[in-house]
Amino acid sequence: SLNIENANTGQIIPSTMHGVILETNVNRDDDGGLYAELVYNRAFQEKGQSLDGWSSFGQGSIALSPFQPLSSALPVHLRYSLIEKSISPSGFRNNGFYGINIQAQNYTASFFYRALGEAYVAGGELSIGFSDSTGQIIYGISTIDVSVAPVDKWFPFSFTIPVLNGTSSVKNFFFIKFPPGSKGDFEFNLVSCFPPTYKNRVNGARIDIAQAFADLKPGYVRLPGGNDLEGLTIPERFIWNNTVGLLENRPGRRGTWTGYNTEGFGLIELFTFVEDIGATPVLAVYAGYSLDGKAVPQDELQPYIDEVIKELDFLTASASNNSMGVLRERLGRSQPFDIKYVEIGNEDIFAADSYSYRWPAFYNALSQRYPNITFIATTTKSINTPPAVDDHDYQVPLFFIENFRRYENIPRPSPKVLVGEFSVINDDDSKISNPFGAGRLDYPSIKSAVAESIYRIGFERNSDIIIGGCYAPVLQNIFNTQWTPNLIVFNTSSVVKSTSYLAQKMFGQNLGNIILNSTATNSSFTHQSVQKGQEGDGKLGNLYFVATKLTHESTLILKLVNADSNDTYVRVQVQGTTLCCEGFMEILTAGSGVDPTTVHNTISNPNAASIYRRPFWSINGAFSITVPSWSVMVVTLPL
Ligand code: AHR
Repeated sequence: SLNIENANTGQIIPSTMHGVILETNVNRDDDGGLYAELVYNRAFQEKGQSLDGWSSFGQGSIALSPFQPLSSALPVHLRYSLIEKSISPSGFRNNGFYGINIQAQNYTASFFYRALGEAYVAGGELSIGFSDSTGQIIYGISTIDVSVAPVDKWFPFSFTIPVLNGTSSVKNFFFIKFPPGSKGDFEFNLVSCFPPTYKNRVNGARIDIAQAFADLKPGYVRLPGGNDLEGLTIPERFIWNNTVGLLENRPGRRGTWTGYNTEGFGLIELFTFVEDIGATPVLAVYAGYSLDGKAVPQDELQPYIDEVIKELDFLTASASNNSMGVLRERLGRSQPFDIKYVEIGNEDIFAADSYSYRWPAFYNALSQRYPNITFIATTTKSINTPPAVDDHDYQVPLFFIENFRRYENIPRPSPKVLVGEFSVINDDDSKISNPFGAGRLDYPSIKSAVAESIYRIGFERNSDIIIGGCYAPVLQNIFNTQWTPNLIVFNTSSVVKSTSYLAQKMFGQNLGNIILNSTATNSSFTHQSVQKGQEGDGKLGNLYFVATKLTHESTLILKLVNADSNDTYVRVQVQGTTLCCEGFMEILTAGSGVDPTTVHNTISNPNAASIYRRPFWSINGAFSITVPSWSVMVVTLPL
């Protein structure tokens, strides 16, 4: 039986408790993923510099040209040449990121254009739109009068492409077509096309992926990485000022994980997105170490510290008395962003020798200037006790189950803890010493979701020190994957929510603001005899639990996770209430007798597992529930 003391005060649970990471680039999660841009290689930076993704049709040819570039950030562009006057519609096209999803809606397209010398567009108009792979079926088209552009000068065009009937196929192209009779050399750069975006943001996010983030109700978003913050080399790190301002002035950089990172979804877009989904940003800043193993020497650190100061000023300073604040306002955002947490570096456990001087150098300078920000170290190895530390754990289920009491066993006072990355990556418990080896999961299973949820219960129970925790990584483009498993898998037109996603959603959407005292007993001992940290406190056998309350709604939120192969029957008594109410339980389970390692939501079977919801009645605060084998359950009840 489970005994819960009703109260209106208790250990406070921070709203940041269950978060997400938005690491730009891993698994093509940004360009080709969350960033809604449909045109692949829009500025010809992929694969060194190339025309990858582009091809010509009809007459004429395409080439890469460095001639008088659009900007120093975008040094090459596409030149389309018609040596002879064309006799049929001709032009060039782009195959998108693994295809283009075309629906009945308006698309916003743009490009920079330059006609060289005597070049001539017959009738002055280009046709721009979408076609199927044969070029025969046109889904939407716009005509643009390019005769208004001065000869030999770059000129921007932007316009709408209406689509009346979409298609379920994604084997489509975005094309730019010249009418017959055209001739000469024409240049293009930053060829771009967006569908409607999340919250209608210009240069914004793909709606279904953004909505999947929002539905988690994440308390925080850690960004922009992860390894992508560090970059492959020091010059290829995340350099914030390269990610803001006009797109033609953003050089991008070699992707840390894959392809080219355009940084079209840059610092302001990232922070706006975090606001749009109602989360708290946890900004990770570059701390002088990159993935080639090189660290900035101690006596050369100052410019990197200054870079972070400018970044934080840019995000947080007033636009009335700070030059970075002024710049932010000039770029369209006058109100400062609210930043409470800044992480210095990423996984410096791998570079602890140099973190010993890098952490104090950054921390001392930054904490003095921004006293209201909590600074998070990435390891405690080799540094003095920091205010907070980020733990990362990629492991097997057994690890998370056995470590249920990890955070309550840390002696207080303790630094705050962000569990910035964690997930079950291998369901085979025998791989606990090498989970990255054989048996690595493609997709999370029910067993993974159960083990992660047990760890999460540990976070809530230790909310005096835990800032929050986050499954990582979050996004996986099925066509370009460097890391499995992930929380959300997507292709060009659909999104799959994994078992781990469903479990995290149950936790994120059902967050109390205080912990209620609760104890569990079986026939061998009484509630009064339950000792802190012993059986009955947070767990009994293979059943794990935390009782919380949302005080402003007076609602009990009870989370129960069963890691047993048998169902567990629980009698619950909430003390101090005589209410008889209807409550609800949400359950995620493999189903009776089903091996929990065999149930995964995948691209081909997206709904193998789902959350089901059931009402129940409590009488005078008493009710009984059966927690199915290998399941995650959230019970809500008015008190
Ligand atoms: O989440 C994937 C990677 O795992 C992150 O980039 C890195 O921080 C960690 O090693």
